[in-house]
Amino acid sequence: MLTVAMKLENGIQQPGFLLALRFLALVLWSFPGARALDNGLAMTPTMGWLHWERFMCNVDCQEEPDSCISEKLFMQMAELMDSDGWKDVGYEYLCIDDCWMAPKRDSKGRLQADPKRFPGGIQGLANYVHSKGLKLGIYADVGNKTCAGFPGSFGYYDIDAQTFADWGVDLLKFDGCHCDSMEHLENGYKHMSLALNRTGRSIVYSCEWPLYMWPFRKPNYTEIRQYCNHWRNFDDVYDSWQSIKNILDWTSSNQKRIIDVAGPGGWNDPDMLVIGNFGLSWDQQVTQMALWAIMAAPLLMSNDLRHISPQAKALLQDKDVIAINQDPLGKQGYRLRKEDNIEVWERPLSDLAWAVAMVNLQEIGGPRFYTISIASLGQGMACIPDCIITQLLPVKRKLGFYQWTSDLKIQINPTGTVLLRLAAN
Ligand code: GLA
Repeated sequence: MLTVAMKLENGIQQPGFLLALRFLALVLWSFPGARALDNGLAMTPTMGWLHWERFMCNVDCQEEPDSCISEKLFMQMAELMDSDGWKDVGYEYLCIDDCWMAPKRDSKGRLQADPKRFPGGIQGLANYVHSKGLKLGIYADVGNKTCAGFPGSFGYYDIDAQTFADWGVDLLKFDGCHCDSMEHLENGYKHMSLALNRTGRSIVYSCEWPLYMWPFRKPNYTEIRQYCNHWRNFDDVYDSWQSIKNILDWTSSNQKRIIDVAGPGGWNDPDMLVIGNFGLSWDQQVTQMALWAIMAAPLLMSNDLRHISPQAKALLQDKDVIAINQDPLGKQGYRLRKEDNIEVWERPLSDLAWAVAMVNLQEIGGPRFYTISIASLGQGMACIPDCIITQLLPVKRKLGFYQWTSDLKIQINPTGTVLLRLAAN
């Protein structure tokens, strides 16, 4: 629940210098970020579904026909993405992760899908996925093997890029396991990017380059952005609150380094949405959705669309929250402050609007009140001279008219988040 401490009902005159500030903000925020991979894709963060967190490397279709990695699983998900409103709100890419391959390449050196689990081949699956108005993503690895031990792409970058293009693949997640050296890793990621471009097919290129570099040296994000449409920085997401907290901590600790490089065409990827699974409470699911919107993160769900609660579905399909994630300005948000176990994050949006998320990280006690001065939001410019504030999460409701001099008092559940949108009056 959210209550308002000081709400001023009457507008005041807009002093000239405040209007000038608004204009300056517009100019500054409109400045383009670093040069992006020139494939015209991912102008807003990629949205879709990715099998890994929920289904992992289950290849036992005998014992578990409904949850093994097989064409049946992807066809069922494609059908639901089309029929259950997912596609309509933007979830477009249906993505295969590790463990789709046969253990050996074919006689011409091409990757092949496991024939038992994918009897129609990837091309057949791509056709089906396209017939539903969706796009197909696939997985490969820059090294000698994939993380789960299937054939790696090292030495085969051009062949693999062409194979994926021939099959009609629309996205490649390129993992970084089993590389011999940093040079191998870096050159491999670059080589595959150019190889994909040379095929002439539009293929979103999802990298894990910085994640595998961090233990050895600081990644050069300006360079990575020139080759990848999004890039993983940190550990794999798990279906747990601890995992979500770790990802948020890593992101805020490194925000100075990673935020400015994100923008249309290239995004930091904090990994999959695990909303609709087993490990997060309702409030924690709200936190993941809100913060993934603030972080301008790819929204790749990893859940079972055949068995998902109406509540989780409504959260994942929340158009207002998705609109923040997909905001065309494409500026990633950041953590503004952390105080007494409350974190305040904010993100500039187009039309001089701002999104603000307040997270209550205290895991003892009940809902807590937090008061913040409106003037401290949006670098002093979120509400000049006044604005309308709408709460989007945990439930949508209009909070009303605020002035720059107002305070905002909100109540946040333990491990939950209140997500707000501040817009010109
Ligand atoms: C790595 C990646 C995961 C997933 C697995 C598959 O751990 O970071 O996202 O792709 O490999 O083996």
